[in-house]
Amino acid sequence: MFNHASEQRWCLDCHNQDDRDRLRLANGDPVAFEESYNLCGQCHGTIFRDWKAGIHGKRTGEWNGRKQYRLCVHCHNPHSPRFKPIKPLPPPDNPMEIQYRKLSTEEIPRNPLGDTE
Ligand code: HEC
Ligand code: HEC
Ligand code: HEC
Repeated sequence: MFNHASEQRWCLDCHNQDDRDRLRLANGDPVAFEESYNLCGQCHGTIFRDWKAGIHGKRTGEWNGRKQYRLCVHCHNPHSPRFKPIKPLPPPDNPMEIQYRKLSTEEIPRNPLGDTE
């Protein structure tokens, strides 16, 4: 499957022919897979800028552990990057419309600590 400007590009625009364990930039410089954002950033400059500023993508951690950045490829498949639409979940119940029913004495849960009265 390859659906990422496939008319204009092919595998070796991003993959390194001589070293399959690394990617390559347009100028031929090798890039580690852990730093694939540099590859994406060559063409998606505004998104890359937003990602570095923490506006696009996601970060977790920071105050109680190591800061973690989600790479572009954690969310986008590099070979078919368009984000698939997500089916929306139904809205929450309107609290005013929830129907309550009076419980019979048998249905009332017993206090596990025993009756306090
Ligand atoms: C836009 C750049 C780009 C192009 C073009 C591209 N790849 Fe990739 N490919 C990547 C990146 C980045 C990864 C690593 C993803 C990751 O780190 O999870 C990858 C991973 C892979 C892998 C590892 C397994 C996997 O699917 O994650 C294979 C195999 C692969 N690519 C083959 C190809 C082939 C074959 C083509 C051409 C049809 C191609 N790639 C085109 C960027 C690209
Ligand atoms: C050589 C330039 C180039 C590189 C490198 C590149 N892209 Fe793209 N990307 C494009 C082009 C051109 C399009 C639009 C083509 C299309 O819609 O099919 C595109 C489309 C996309 C889209 C879909 C945008 C939309 O509106 O649907 C996403 C997401 C994306 N790329 C993410 C990435 C990620 C992640 C990487 C790094 C693994 C990457 N791109 C690397 C050129 C590039
Ligand atoms: C945490 C997940 C996540 C990460 C990380 C992430 N993206 Fe995205 N990206 C998204 C979502 C969600 C959308 C919106 C899709 C939509 O609205 O249909 C998106 C949209 C895009 C688009 C289309 C935007 C447009 O305006 O048309 C591009 C291009 C893109 N991302 C590239 C990147 C690149 C490059 C990186 C890394 C520097 C990256 N993304 C990192 C989740 C992510």
